[in-house]
Amino acid sequence: MAIVNSERLFLLLLVVVSDMLVLSMGVYVSPLSSEKSYVSAVGDPGMKSPNVRVGLEAWNFCNEVGAEAPGMGSPRMADCADLNCYSPSADSLDITNMNGRTCRMQRRVNESDNKLKAGDEFPATSFNPYPDPDLYAVEKELYLGSLCEVHDSQDPWQFWMIMLKNGNFDKNTTLCPENGKKVSKIITGRNFPCFGKGCMNQPLIYHNYSRLFYSKMQPLFLSGKFFGTYDLDVDLSKGVGNNSYFSVSWEKNLTSGSWIFSHKLTTSQKYPWLMLYLRADATKGFNGGYHYNGRGIMKKLPVSPNFKVRLTLNVIRGGGSNSQFYLLDIGSCWKNNGKPCDGDVLTDVTRYSEMIINPATTSWCRADNLVSCPPYHVTVSGEKIYRNDTSRFPYSAYHLYCSPGNGDYLEAPYDICDPYSNPQAQELVQIIPHPEWAVHGYPEKQGDGWIGDSRTWELDVGGLSSRLYFYQDPGTEPAKRVWFSLNVGTEIYVSRNGETAEWTVSDFDVLVPQEADDNGFSFV
Ligand SMILES: *[C@@H]1O[C@H](CO)[C@@H](O)[C@H](O)[C@H]1NC(C)=O
Ligand SMILES: *[C@@H]1O[C@H](CO)[C@@H](O)[C@H](O)[C@H]1NC(C)=O
Ligand SMILES: *[C@@H]1O[C@H](CO)[C@@H](O)[C@H](O)[C@H]1NC(C)=O
Ligand SMILES: *[C@@H]1O[C@H](CO)[C@@H](O)[C@H](O)[C@H]1NC(C)=O
Ligand SMILES: *[C@@H]1O[C@H](CO)[C@@H](O)[C@H](O)[C@H]1NC(C)=O
Ligand SMILES: *[C@@H]1O[C@H](CO)[C@@H](O)[C@H](O)[C@H]1NC(C)=O
Repeated sequence: MAIVNSERLFLLLLVVVSDMLVLSMGVYVSPLSSEKSYVSAVGDPGMKSPNVRVGLEAWNFCNEVGAEAPGMGSPRMADCADLNCYSPSADSLDITNMNGRTCRMQRRVNESDNKLKAGDEFPATSFNPYPDPDLYAVEKELYLGSLCEVHDSQDPWQFWMIMLKNGNFDKNTTLCPENGKKVSKIITGRNFPCFGKGCMNQPLIYHNYSRLFYSKMQPLFLSGKFFGTYDLDVDLSKGVGNNSYFSVSWEKNLTSGSWIFSHKLTTSQKYPWLMLYLRADATKGFNGGYHYNGRGIMKKLPVSPNFKVRLTLNVIRGGGSNSQFYLLDIGSCWKNNGKPCDGDVLTDVTRYSEMIINPATTSWCRADNLVSCPPYHVTVSGEKIYRNDTSRFPYSAYHLYCSPGNGDYLEAPYDICDPYSNPQAQELVQIIPHPEWAVHGYPEKQGDGWIGDSRTWELDVGGLSSRLYFYQDPGTEPAKRVWFSLNVGTEIYVSRNGETAEWTVSDFDVLVPQEADDNGFSFV
C-alpha cells in the first residue's frame, strides 16, 4: 500500500476573496518581452508567482559546512508552499462563496525535512545519508529541491536561494583547502577574524513558515521568514543585543504582484565578517563557489554577452564603510585553459565579478598600485587599455582585481586572491560605479542606487561581463562565460563595531535570448 501522506501537505485555510484577485494571479509578462527575442531564464519571472519557493544555505569560510550548529540540522532549508485558488463550482450551495474564490495553502517542506542532519535517512531513499556534514548538505539541497521542484515546462526549477556565509577562519584547523589543495597545516601571513575555537560555526536558524495573509478588500498572499544569529549562546527571544543577526522575509507587493524579499544583516564582535545574498542559482550543475551539483531557479544559463538582469533594489541601511554591497555579484567557474569546470578542485577556478555600490568603497586599483588592477581594461568599443597607460586607464572604475592562485603565467605585478575562502582557487574582478559601466545600465557614479535612491535596474550584465578581464593561460581558447549564479546582497567585510545593513529586493528577473534553447549552454 502506498502511504497516503497528503495530510502533511495541507494547512487548510478557506477564505472568501473578491473577484479582483484574479488579476493578481495572472501570468506575468516581462516589460522586456516586447523585445521578442528575450525570454526569462528563471522559474519565477519577475518574482510574480503566488507560490513561495525559497531555499536557504549557510556556508563556512570555504563554502562548506564543517560542523552543524547544535540542534539545527544540516544548514540547508527550504520554505516552499503553493497557493491554490479555484472558483467554487456553479452548483455550490455555499452562498458566501458565490462571487469569490476559495484558496488554500499547500506546504511542500515540513519541519522534519528542514531539521534533517548529517547521517539522517532521507524520507526518499534515492538520497544518500552521508555522515560527513559537508557531503550531507549537498544531498539535502538536492532532497529539498525535489520537494520544491516545479514542472511547468521541460525545464524544472526549485527555488530562489538565500545564502549566508561566516567570514571567520580558524587557521589552526584544516577545514579549508589552499587553492583547492588539502593542506596539513595552514601557513600564511594573511590575517582572518577568529575569536577562538569554534569560530567557524554555522548559525542558529529559525523559521516562520509561510502562512496565508488576507484581508477583506485585499488580495491574499503568502508570507514567511527565516532569521537567526551566529552567536550560539544567544536567546533571540530576549532581543538581539549586540549579537550577530540576520533575517530574510518575503511578502507580496499587492500593486505589482512581485515578492518583496526584506533582508537584514548585523555583524558582531565575534562575527565581524558576514555575508547575506539572495541568489538566482542554476537549477543543476555547479553553482558559483561550489564544486558540486546544486539547485536553484535559473532554468536556462545566461551566457555573455547576451543577457540582462532586472531587479528593484531598495537599500535602507548600508552596513558601514566595509559593507561591500553587491548590485550583482556574478559567479561562474572555468579552468585556466578555458575549459568548463568538472569538479576537480585543483584546476577548477571560481570566477566572480562584483559591482560594489557602497559609496564608501574606494579604488584600490590606482596608477600607484597597479597590483590591484587587472592587466588591462576593455573599452565599450573593444579597445584594450593597459594598466600602465596611466593617462587612459579608468582606475576609478575598479575596486580591486586579484588573480587565481593556480595561474601559471600571471602578469606581474599581481596579487593572489584569498586561497582559502573557496573550495578551489578563485579570481575576483570588483568594480565600482563609473561611466564605463553605466553604458550597460549600471550605476554611473558613487551614491547611485544607494540609500534613498531605490531603483528598478535593467542591467546589461551580459555586455558588461564580456568586457571584463579574466585570466587564461596564453594561447588557450577563451572560455565561454556561462554564469551559474547571480546574487544581490552584502558582504559586511571585517568591521570593528557591529554594523547593520537592511535592504529589499523585488522584481528579480534574468532575460536570455530565445535562441539560447538551441545554441546556448547545455548543462553538464
Ligand atoms: C514530513 O515530510 C516527510 C517527507 O514527505 C514525511 O516522511 C514526514 O512524515 C513528514 N513529517 C511530518 C511531521 O509531517
Ligand atoms: C591557534 O593555536 C595557537 C597556538 O597554539 C594559539 O595561540 C591560538 O589561540 C589558536 N587559535 C585559535 C583560534 O584557536
Ligand atoms: C516566528 O518564529 C519565532 C521562533 O520560532 C517565534 O517566536 C515567533 O512567534 C514567530 N512569529 C510569528 C509571527 O509567527
Ligand atoms: C552593546 O554595546 C554597547 C557599546 O559597547 C554598550 O554600551 C551596550 O550596553 C551593549 N548592549 C547590550 C545589550 O549589551
Ligand atoms: C510595489 O510596486 C509598485 C509598482 O511597481 C511600486 O511603485 C512600489 O514602490 C512597490 N512597493 C514596495 C513596497 O516595494
Ligand atoms: C605596459 O604594459 C604592457 C603589457 O604588460 C607592456 O607590453 C608595455 O611594455 C608596458 N609599457 C610600459 C611603458 O611600461
